[in-house]
Amino acid sequence: MSKNCPGFFEGTEMPTAGWWDALWPDPAGVVAEAGIKPGMDVIDLCSGDGWFTLPIAMVADHVLAIDIDPNMLNVARRRLAENGVANCDFAAGDAYDLAVLAAGPVDFVFMANAFHGVPDRPRLAAIVSATLKPGGYFAIVNWHTRPREETIVLGEPRGPRTDLRLSPDQTIKAVEAGGLSVCLGTY
Ligand SMILES: C[S@@+](CC[C@H](N)C(=O)[O-])C[C@H]1O[C@@H](n2cnc3c(N)ncnc32)[C@H](O)[C@@H]1O
Repeated sequence: MSKNCPGFFEGTEMPTAGWWDALWPDPAGVVAEAGIKPGMDVIDLCSGDGWFTLPIAMVADHVLAIDIDPNMLNVARRRLAENGVANCDFAAGDAYDLAVLAAGPVDFVFMANAFHGVPDRPRLAAIVSATLKPGGYFAIVNWHTRPREETIVLGEPRGPRTDLRLSPDQTIKAVEAGGLSVCLGTY
């Protein structure tokens, strides 16, 4: 699946296996730092091959992995099954259709390495907001705004084009415009 697929967020292709593990050697640590806790009902939005879905499912009560690419969901499904994790459902679809894809309001929406490609970020933030229980959280993991040629992983520049990368300020403005309020490190 690629940018030629209608609705596909620009610059969010799942990388070839190998360097993602090198870039994110501790996905469970990222999930913990984001604030995902036992008992939570979580959506992993744009979940890709499940690199973060697995550690989320190992902590949370339940996780719904959503991705526009059914092939990615199959890889994720296999990853979780191989690890004996069964508290995860999978839904193929566009993140903008979250309201339809989610069974009901959740405690937490986690989105890693995809928000930069969303064409209308306030719109997505508003959709996420409507999917959260009162007091729920939306965590966004983004690439730094460093030039792409400086983000070397396994010997090569990697990640989205420099002009697609978002600063924390740009991210905060986008989610605030979608009706969410920002709490940094206070959950
Ligand atoms: C760079 S990958 C990141 C996957 C995962 N979040 C991670 O960090 O390991 C981005 C994912 O977003 C998915 N994606 C792109 N556009 C989407 C859309 N409109 N709705 C849902 N998923 C989308 C892609 O298929 C891809 O699997």
